[in-house]
Amino acid sequence: MVNHVQLHSPLLLSCICISLLLCAAVPAVAAGGGGQREAGALLKWKATLAAGADRYLSSWSSASDATSPCNWEFIACNSAGDVTELRISGVSLNGSLAGLDLSAFTRLETLTLVQNDLYGTIPEAIGNLTSLVSLVIQHNQGLKGPIPRSIGQLKQLASLKLQTLGLDGAIPSEIGNLTGLKEVYLDGNTLTGSIPPAVGKLQRLTSLYLNLNSLAGTVPAEIGNITELRIMNLAGNRLEGELGGYLAQLRKLSALLVANNQLGGDITPCLSNRSSLIEVDIAGNDFSKISAQAICTGGTLLHFLANSNRLSNLRDLNFQNCTSLRYIDLAANGILAGTEEWLGTLPKSLEHIYFAQNQLYGTLPLQLGEFGKLSALGLAENRISGQIPQVLGNMTSLTNLNLGHNILSGAIPPELGSLYQILQLNLSFNHLSGPLPLTLRNLSKLFSLDLSNCSLTGQTYDFLTTNQSTFSFPEIEILALSSNDITSAMPTLLCNANFLKILDLSNNALHGDLPNCLWDLPSLLFMDLSSNSFSSVATSSRSSSTTLQSLHLANNHFEGNVPSIIKNCYKLITLDLGGNNFTGEIPGWMAESMPQLRFLRLSSNMFSGNIPQQIFQFTQLQLLDLSHNKLIGPIPADFANFTSMTRQQEHGEIVYFFAYSEQLQLVWKNENYVYSKTITFIMGIDLLCNLLSQTIPEGLTNLRGLRYLNLSRNHLSGDIPKDIGNLALLESLDLSWNQLEGEIPPGFADLKALSTLNLSNNGLSGRIPAGSQLQTLVDPSIYGNNLGLCGFPLKECANAATRSNEKSQDDDREELWLYCFVVAGFIFGFWLSWCLICNRTWRYALYHYVNNVLQKVAKEVQCYF
Ligand SMILES: *[C@@H]1O[C@H](CO)[C@@H](O)[C@H](O)[C@H]1NC(C)=O
Ligand SMILES: *[C@@H]1O[C@H](CO)[C@@H](O)[C@H](O)[C@H]1NC(C)=O
Ligand SMILES: *[C@@H]1O[C@H](CO)[C@@H](O)[C@H](O)[C@H]1NC(C)=O
Ligand SMILES: *[C@@H]1O[C@H](CO)[C@@H](O)[C@H](O)[C@H]1NC(C)=O
Ligand SMILES: *[C@@H]1O[C@H](CO)[C@@H](O)[C@H](O)[C@H]1NC(C)=O
Ligand SMILES: *[C@@H]1O[C@H](CO)[C@@H](O)[C@H](O)[C@H]1NC(C)=O
Ligand SMILES: *[C@@H]1O[C@H](CO)[C@@H](O)[C@H](O)[C@H]1NC(C)=O
Ligand SMILES: *[C@@H]1O[C@H](CO)[C@@H](O)[C@H](O)[C@H]1NC(C)=O
Ligand SMILES: *[C@@H]1O[C@H](CO)[C@@H](O)[C@H](O)[C@H]1NC(C)=O
Ligand SMILES: *[C@@H]1O[C@H](CO)[C@@H](O)[C@H](O)[C@H]1NC(C)=O
Ligand SMILES: *[C@@H]1O[C@H](CO)[C@@H](O)[C@H](O)[C@H]1NC(C)=O
Repeated sequence: MVNHVQLHSPLLLSCICISLLLCAAVPAVAAGGGGQREAGALLKWKATLAAGADRYLSSWSSASDATSPCNWEFIACNSAGDVTELRISGVSLNGSLAGLDLSAFTRLETLTLVQNDLYGTIPEAIGNLTSLVSLVIQHNQGLKGPIPRSIGQLKQLASLKLQTLGLDGAIPSEIGNLTGLKEVYLDGNTLTGSIPPAVGKLQRLTSLYLNLNSLAGTVPAEIGNITELRIMNLAGNRLEGELGGYLAQLRKLSALLVANNQLGGDITPCLSNRSSLIEVDIAGNDFSKISAQAICTGGTLLHFLANSNRLSNLRDLNFQNCTSLRYIDLAANGILAGTEEWLGTLPKSLEHIYFAQNQLYGTLPLQLGEFGKLSALGLAENRISGQIPQVLGNMTSLTNLNLGHNILSGAIPPELGSLYQILQLNLSFNHLSGPLPLTLRNLSKLFSLDLSNCSLTGQTYDFLTTNQSTFSFPEIEILALSSNDITSAMPTLLCNANFLKILDLSNNALHGDLPNCLWDLPSLLFMDLSSNSFSSVATSSRSSSTTLQSLHLANNHFEGNVPSIIKNCYKLITLDLGGNNFTGEIPGWMAESMPQLRFLRLSSNMFSGNIPQQIFQFTQLQLLDLSHNKLIGPIPADFANFTSMTRQQEHGEIVYFFAYSEQLQLVWKNENYVYSKTITFIMGIDLLCNLLSQTIPEGLTNLRGLRYLNLSRNHLSGDIPKDIGNLALLESLDLSWNQLEGEIPPGFADLKALSTLNLSNNGLSGRIPAGSQLQTLVDPSIYGNNLGLCGFPLKECANAATRSNEKSQDDDREELWLYCFVVAGFIFGFWLSWCLICNRTWRYALYHYVNNVLQKVAKEVQCYF
C-alpha cells in the first residue's frame, strides 16, 4: 500500500496538492460565499434599478474579470473577501431597496446611501445587517414609511443617520436596544408620535438630532439618563410642556437646541451652573422665565438665542456678568425697558445683540461705544427716540446695524461713513430728516442699504456715484431709498451694480428718462420706481433683464404704448403700470411673453380698444386690474384658461424667490387697499370705469377662486349670469352703474362670503333672493335706482303673500307670461301675440318691456302714496 503510494507519489502529490488547493479554495468561496452571494445580490438589485443607474454601476458586472465584488465601485471588503462597506453618494439609482437582498450582507459594517433618488420604504430586512456599525441614508426624500422595528437587531450600530428622507410614523422604541449608539440623526423627516422613553437607555450617545420632524408630546424624563449627551437638537417639532430639571443631569451638554416648539415654563433648572454649556437656542417657544445669572455661572455660555418667547422681565435677563457671552437674541419678547437700563444688563464682550420687536424706549446712550467688539446690533421695531448718536461711528467692527421702525429723529450722522466693515445698514421707517450723508459712499462693502421712509433729501446722482465716475456701492444687492424726497435723474452708473437684486426708489421726486442700461442689470429681481416723475422707458437695450420678477412703474408720467422692452421679462410675476398715461391697445403679446404673471395692474391709464382675447392665456393670473381706462367692446367670453382663478388659492403660497416687502395699491371692497406680497391669496378682476358693453359672459362664473369682482360703471347689459352663485368665495361684488336687467338669479343667495355688494343703478327687477349672507347686507342703497327690486332690505314684494315659496322661477315666468300675454293681447291683438309665442326672442323682449313698464308704473304709484 505504502509502496503503491510511493510509486505513484508524483501523481498522488499533485492530487493532494490539487485537493488541498480545492479544500483551501472551497471554504474560501463558501465563507466568502459571502463574496459571491453579495455579488449576486448586488447584480440582482442593479437589474431592478432604472436604466440611468447603469452608467454609474458599470463596474458591477458578472462578465468582468473581477470574480469578487471587492473590485467594484462603491464597495469595500475585508481580507476574507466579505463586503464590509457599501457607500453610494450623489449617484441617481432611481429605484427601491426592496430589490436588494440584505440578508446576503452578514459582514457589512458601513452602509451609506446619499442622494440616490431612492423610493419605497426601508425594508424590515435591514435587521439582517447584524454587523452594521454605521447606517447612513440621507437626502432621499422619496424614501417613505416608518423606521423598521428590526433596526433593534443592529447590535453593533454606533452611528444611525436617517436624515432628510420622507420617513413617517413613530420612532420605534427598539432604538433603545442599540446601546452602542454614539450618534443618532433622524432630522428632516416627518416622524410623528412622541420621543420614546427608551432613548434614555442609550448611555453612550453624544449627539441626538431629532429636529425638523412632527414629534409631539412632552420630552421624556429618561432623556436625563443619557449622561454622555453633548448635543441635543429637538428644534422644529411640536413638543410641549416644560423641560424638567432632569436635564440638569446632562453634565456634559454643550448645545441645547429646542427652538420652534411649544415648550414653556421656567428653563432655569435645566441650565443652571453648567460648565459645559456653549449654545442655548430656545427661540420660538413659550418660555416665560429664566434666570440669566444661573445659566451663566458655568462661565462657558457663548450663544443664547431666545427670541419669540415670553421672557418679558428684564430683571431675570441680567447677563451683565456673563462675560463668556458673544451672541444674544431676545427679539420679540415684549420686553418693556428704558435703553440705559437695558444696556446695563449686557456684558461688553458681546459681538451680536438682537433685541428687535420689544418695547425699548429712550435715546441710544453713549455707553453703546463701550461695546468695542460689536458686530451686529438689531434694534428694529422698538420705540427708541432721539438722534442717532455719533458714537456709532466709532464702532468700526459693526457689520450689521438695524435701527428700522423706531422714532429716531434728526439727521443721519456723517460719522456712520466710518463703519467701513458694514454690510447691512437699515435705518428705515424713522422720523429722520436732512440730506443723505455723502460719507456713506465710503461704505463700499455694503450689500444691503435700507433708508426708506426717512424723509431724507438729496440726489441719487450724488449719492450713488463717487466723483461722478464710479458707482458707490459695487457689492450692493438690496438698495431701498423709497419714500423720501430724493431728486435728480437716474444715474447710468447704477447699471454697474452687477449684484443688485432689489431696487426700490419708489415715492421720491426722481425724474427724466429711465436709462436703457437699467434693463441689462444681470441680477435684478425686483424694481419699484413707482410714484416718481419719470417720463420715458427705454425702447431697446443690449440684452434686457431676464431675471426680473417684479416690476412697478406706477404713478409716473410714462406715455405711449406698453414698452415693448418688457417682452423679454419672461419671469415677471408682478407688473404694475397703473396711473400713467399709457395709450393704445393692451398688447396681445403680454400673456405669451410673461407666462408666469400673477398680478397685472394697468389701471388709470388711457388704454383703448377691445380687451384682447389673448389675455386669457395668462394661466397663473390672480389679479387683473384694468380699471379706469377707455376699453370698449365686450368682455371676452373664454375664461377657461384662467386656470389659477378657477381654484381656491392656497394660503401663503410662496411666489417669489426674494424676501422684500412689496406693495401694490388696489381698490378692494370699495376702499383703497395696499396689498403686500404676504397676502398671496388675493384673487380678483377689476374692470371699473371703462366703456365695456354687451352681456357679462357666463364663463366668468367658472372662476371659482374669485374673491373680488368689479364691473361697475361700464355699459354692460343683459342678465346677471345665472350661475353667479358658483363664485362661493366672492367677498366683494360691484356691478353698479351698468344697464343690467332682468331678475337677480336665485343662485345669488349662494354667495356665502359676500360682504361688499353694489348692484345699484341698473335696470334690475324682481325679488332679491334671500340668503343668510345676503341678510347681513342691510344697506338698501346697494340695490338703489333699479327698475324695480323688492324683498329684503327693500320693501316686501307686493305679491309675496300670494306666492308659495316652492314655486319655481319657471312657474313665475309662466305666470308673468300669462299676464303679459293678456296685456299684449290687449295692446296688439290676439294674432300678434300668437306669432310672438312662436318667437322666443320677441317673446322675452315683450315680457321685459311690459315688465319694465309695470315696474315703472308701480314705482310711480308708490311715489303717489
Ligand atoms: C426614474 O425613472 C423613471 C422611469 O423609470 C423616470 O420617469 C423618472 O424621471 C426617473 N426619476 C429620476 C429622479 O431620475
Ligand atoms: C432577514 O430579515 C427578514 C425580515 O426581518 C427575516 O424575515 C429574515 O428571516 C431575515 N433573514 C435572515 C437570513 O436573517
Ligand atoms: C428590544 O426592545 C424592545 C422594545 O423596547 C424590547 O421589548 C425587547 O426586549 C428588546 N430586545 C432586546 C434583545 O433587548
Ligand atoms: C432613567 O430615568 C428614569 C426617569 O428619570 C429613572 O427612573 C431611571 O432610574 C433612570 N435609569 C437609569 C438607568 O438611570
Ligand atoms: C456649581 O456646581 C459646582 C459643582 O458642579 C458646585 O461646586 C458649585 O457650588 C455650584 N455653584 C452654584 C452657584 O450652584
Ligand atoms: C455682577 O458682578 C458684580 C461684581 O461681582 C456684582 O456686584 C453684581 O451684582 C453682579 N451682577 C449680577 C446681575 O449678577
Ligand atoms: C470716537 O473716536 C474718536 C477718535 O478715536 C474719539 O476722539 C471720540 O472721543 C470717540 N467718541 C466717543 C463718543 O467715544
Ligand atoms: C429693515 O428693517 C425693517 C424693520 O425690521 C424691515 O421691515 C425691513 O425689511 C428691513 N429692510 C431690509 C432691506 O432688510
Ligand atoms: C470717505 O472717503 C473719502 C475718500 O474717498 C475721504 O476723503 C473721507 O475722509 C472719507 N470719509 C470718512 C467719514 O471716512
Ligand atoms: C396725462 O396726459 C394729460 C394730457 O396729455 C395730462 O394732462 C395729464 O397730467 C397726464 N397725466 C399723467 C399722470 O401724466
Ligand atoms: C388656452 O390655452 C391654450 C394652451 O396654452 C391655447 O392653445 C388656447 O389658445 C388658449 N385659449 C384661449 C381662448 O386663449
